[in-house]
Amino acid sequence: MSTSKQVVLTGITPSGTPHIGNYIGAIKPALELAKNPDYKARYFISDYHSLVKLWDADLRKQYTYEIAATWLALGLDPKQVVFYRQSDVPEIMELTWILTTMAAKGLLNRAHAYKAQVDANLEEGVDTDSGITMGLFNYPVLMAADILMFNTELVPVGKDQIQHVEIARDIAARFNHVYKTDLLTPPKALVDDKTQTIPGLDGRKMSKSYGNTIPIFAPEKKLRKLIMKIKTNSLLPEEPKVTKGCALFTLYQCFANEAELNEMKLRYQTGIGWGEVKQTLFEKINADLKAPRDKYNELMENHDKIESLLKHGAEQARMIALPLLNKVRKKIGI
Ligand code: ADP
Ligand code: TRP
Repeated sequence: MSTSKQVVLTGITPSGTPHIGNYIGAIKPALELAKNPDYKARYFISDYHSLVKLWDADLRKQYTYEIAATWLALGLDPKQVVFYRQSDVPEIMELTWILTTMAAKGLLNRAHAYKAQVDANLEEGVDTDSGITMGLFNYPVLMAADILMFNTELVPVGKDQIQHVEIARDIAARFNHVYKTDLLTPPKALVDDKTQTIPGLDGRKMSKSYGNTIPIFAPEKKLRKLIMKIKTNSLLPEEPKVTKGCALFTLYQCFANEAELNEMKLRYQTGIGWGEVKQTLFEKINADLKAPRDKYNELMENHDKIESLLKHGAEQARMIALPLLNKVRKKIGI
């Protein structure tokens, strides 16, 4: 049995309205971990990361409030979790530069977001650096600073972020080796196998980049409308249907209990129309999100309250970050 609590940390970037993929894939499992007495949770809004893709100040502010209100409405307890906005903790920025000097360029060349842009450029036959900023290239170093600043052991993330956590691990090991220390804790990614990829309206991974999302707190009517739009095949109600790989069923699985799921499986075999599946799914999701939606709307009317919670969280975060940063400064002779 471990004697000390493990530090678990994760961030969400304010580059869009939070969607059901974020809820099931990131927020819900993180909130469950936060309730576990074996862990100390630090959850934050990575607004500096959003500068890489989003260059609109008002939208950044809007999404920041939306994400903060989403976490709070879904049950984040600021007494239990250190909950802050990345830009309110300037120590992270200082650590970012220090870590940049420890990050091998070859390692960052392989980071998938950067590589994807290079590949897209090659395909289009344009300069390989076209449209690539140093922000995109260095993104994993900032993420490493987020993680290493708080002696994080576990990072709950989706599959797409595993590589970034491994880069943070690598950078920590290099720093520790170069400066002959064990100051930086190598983190591990924590991926929930059950809920890796939530499908969107078109059946592909639900993602802001595909424009196929269902916002967590879409008003009831809009929620129903979006669910009715989820792509299905043209099987008739009486024809048997396959649950595996079915977007509607995958979503239903995230909200229904075992008895409800078994019932739905049976209906897929014996006959059910897509309209009825969609209506049942809507009712299930709506029942789950109705109370948090009211809380969300209330918080979105009260930015001051969100600000004051985030500021308080940042004070707590800085009390953890500054002592470590001071040790790092001392170690590197600054
Ligand atoms: P997006 O793909 O919409 O840009 P982000 O990359 O901002 O979403 O994801 C924030 C968090 O939510 C990450 O931990 C990510 O893995 C998780 N996530 C996003 N979309 C999904 C999805 N469709 N299924 C499961 N998890 C997801
Ligand atoms: N890069 C992550 C994403 O886009 C967000 C993030 C920033 C993060 N810093 C982090 C996640 C640190 C975990 C730990 O989803």
